[in-house]
Amino acid sequence: MITHFLQLQLNTVSVQGVKQFYHGQLRFPIVYESDNEIAFQPTEYFTLSFIEAAESLAPAHFAFEVPYSEFENVVNWLQSAGGVTLLKWPDGRIIDDFETGMNVYFRDGDGNLLEIITHHYIKEGILAPSGELKILYLREIGFPVDSVIDFRKFFVEIFNFKLDKVSDNFTFAIGGTSHAVVTSKKRKWIPIAMTALPPTMKVVFGVSSSDFMDKVKISLSAKCIHFDENKEDRQLNFKINEYNFYLRLTNFPEEVPTLLNLPYSRLQP
Ligand SMILES: [Fe+2]
Repeated sequence: MITHFLQLQLNTVSVQGVKQFYHGQLRFPIVYESDNEIAFQPTEYFTLSFIEAAESLAPAHFAFEVPYSEFENVVNWLQSAGGVTLLKWPDGRIIDDFETGMNVYFRDGDGNLLEIITHHYIKEGILAPSGELKILYLREIGFPVDSVIDFRKFFVEIFNFKLDKVSDNFTFAIGGTSHAVVTSKKRKWIPIAMTALPPTMKVVFGVSSSDFMDKVKISLSAKCIHFDENKEDRQLNFKINEYNFYLRLTNFPEEVPTLLNLPYSRLQP
């Protein structure tokens, strides 16, 4: 199965700029740095990397899950020590309190829309909260597409993902702790009505078994989707629409999504 988001790689117009934001302000540890590339490791199981590109950027959207008991502290830290300006909803509020949790949004220097989200149903003590932001895992990556219906079908048929909040212009496609936010390019990102352009990105999913990898290969072949395989890195990659997907075998424990009490990973009675 797909267990989690293992890596997100985005383009940037300034490696120094992202270093100042993600390392200087958010205090993410740096695991790799060169003139045109930098990688941060906000949690043990997730890497966020940026490559300098001389091209205009379409901002990405991604969300980190934090423990419910820490949410208030994290929001306070972000605004004080983190020096981050949180975005406002049209009515002026900053924290959105929804049925199953709370969230806040802010932007980095490239305009990427970041979110800190928490859910009261997530069991604490399963994954260790990491860093000043107490991050448990990367929960969401946004995928603006022309056809939400076609794109989510791919997540179901190739990755065996479950769907939630299904509508013609929006859907969550869920596998393990990863939530792909499949949204129409015509639907703007909240809370600042930001146009949903498709960012250039590489998305790496952690996979728990080579059996699953083999099933993905069969599904891709059946759909005539070309893929490349790197046996040494135990990695598979392919492109769907404008998005680059990678699957890599990792040691992320397969039972974590169930232990966290994620709704689509709960054991059926
Ligand atoms: Fe989000």
